[in-house]
Amino acid sequence: MTDWEQRWRASDTPWDKGYGAPPLSEYLEDPACVLLGARRVLVPGCGSGHDVRELARCGIPATGLDLSPTAIERARAVARVGGEDYVTGDLFARGWRVGRDFDAIWEHTCFCAIDPSLRSSYAAAMAEILPPGGHLVGLFFLTPWDEGEEAKGPPFESRREEIEALFAPFFERLSERVPSRAYPGREGREWRVVFRRRSPGNPEVAEPSGAA
Ligand SMILES: C[S@@+](CC[C@H](N)C(=O)[O-])C[C@H]1O[C@@H](n2cnc3c(N)ncnc32)[C@H](O)[C@@H]1O
Repeated sequence: MTDWEQRWRASDTPWDKGYGAPPLSEYLEDPACVLLGARRVLVPGCGSGHDVRELARCGIPATGLDLSPTAIERARAVARVGGEDYVTGDLFARGWRVGRDFDAIWEHTCFCAIDPSLRSSYAAAMAEILPPGGHLVGLFFLTPWDEGEEAKGPPFESRREEIEALFAPFFERLSERVPSRAYPGREGREWRVVFRRRSPGNPEVAEPSGAA
């Protein structure tokens, strides 16, 4: 298992590009972006908070969650945009959630970072956080490794069909696409999916949330 705190302390963080994910800024420019009307967006595995601040710059209240106290310390050390905050915690635990409400989630490089055996627990945890009609927008890094390269995660690769199957019990898929923008080297390797939380009592129906 990866010792994330140790990696942050050692600054062994090759995933940290120093700015928010290009597919996030691309999506935030789309008038149909479901995050634009969100009351508060959770960013699980936020690292040093680049995506959290990107959301805040668009006027979207956002909370970054990370297991690593050092990552959260670094996120808090950056000048505040306004509307963002950070919490140290494990996404699989509930304690950090007390007193916090979210109607949307932005997933980016957390799903591919956790052990693949935890993926169904991840989908269930995200579903538990959101009310019916809440949105999970996922930017899934499907193919981090080149052909012939040793696929030694994290990041762990994934397939679209696998992701659909994991989220289907809790979410309906509203849209999907390969983003046009990417960090250098990630072009064509990512998949953006917008999911909407189903009503737990009626898995076929997703009630509309306040988010556009
Ligand atoms: C690959 S990094 C990505 C960070 C950030 N999303 C980015 O792209 O810059 C994965 C992050 O998830 C965090 N993480 C891993 N497991 C976690 C868990 N169970 N709960 C919360 N955060 C977790 C790690 O500490 C790490 O900062």
